[in-house]
Amino acid sequence: MMEGAAICSTTNPREERVDLTQISLRPINPSDLNDLMLWTTDEKVAKYCTWEPYTSKEDGINFIQNIASKSLWFRAICLQNRAIGCIDLFSCSGKETGREKSVELGYALGSRYWGRGIATQVVKQVVEVAFSEFTHLERVEALVDVENVASQRVLEKAGFQREGVLRKYLLMKGKARDMVMYSVLSNDLQI
Ligand SMILES: CC(C)(COP(=O)(O)OP(=O)(O)OC[C@H]1O[C@@H](n2cnc3c(N)ncnc32)[C@H](O)[C@@H]1OP(=O)(O)O)[C@@H](O)C(=O)NCCC(=O)NCCS
Repeated sequence: MMEGAAICSTTNPREERVDLTQISLRPINPSDLNDLMLWTTDEKVAKYCTWEPYTSKEDGINFIQNIASKSLWFRAICLQNRAIGCIDLFSCSGKETGREKSVELGYALGSRYWGRGIATQVVKQVVEVAFSEFTHLERVEALVDVENVASQRVLEKAGFQREGVLRKYLLMKGKARDMVMYSVLSNDLQI
């Protein structure tokens, strides 16, 4: 069970409250496996992501073992130190030349915690981390499926600009999808 004392107990999970001060970011480790499996196996969470819902603990073990080497920066999103989601920065220079000053932001959260402002809070935090820890960066971007309205709203609340729709840009679950490109620049944050 992932619910902790910070969540008021009610019969309807949609009415649960989350104390945002209990949300933290930390590296993932093997002891997070059971918590990770709760949301990586959830079709609702994977729907607008490139990955398929996990079907075995092996998938989860592989993820925990390999994600640090794939991402520029990766953290588990934790509620009272339990991993309820993840957020990462992925270097754009790995996929295209001339993109050394850009990173792509990605994130996912267990569905029972949606709609409580968690993603917005951590996205804002991670943008600050990106520009302060990786001082060469000028741009953080995020690609969102046109139908993923919640994620678009998160980025807008976190100060990203909607740049436009890239048509049939990304293969997801075997289909080329229209994707909205969002970005925030280091300049945007300067007063
Ligand atoms: C996208 C995701 C991270 C959002 O997390 P979250 O913690 O629920 O986000 P927040 O609570 O901070 O904000 C969600 C916003 O979207 C809005 N929203 C949610 N569903 C919506 C819908 N169908 N239509 C319009 N707005 C919607 C919420 O009302 C809220 O906006 P508000 O504060 O103005 O009311 C979460 O849904 C998720 O993990 N989804 C699966 C993985 C995923 O899609 N990752 C992103 C890939 S780009």
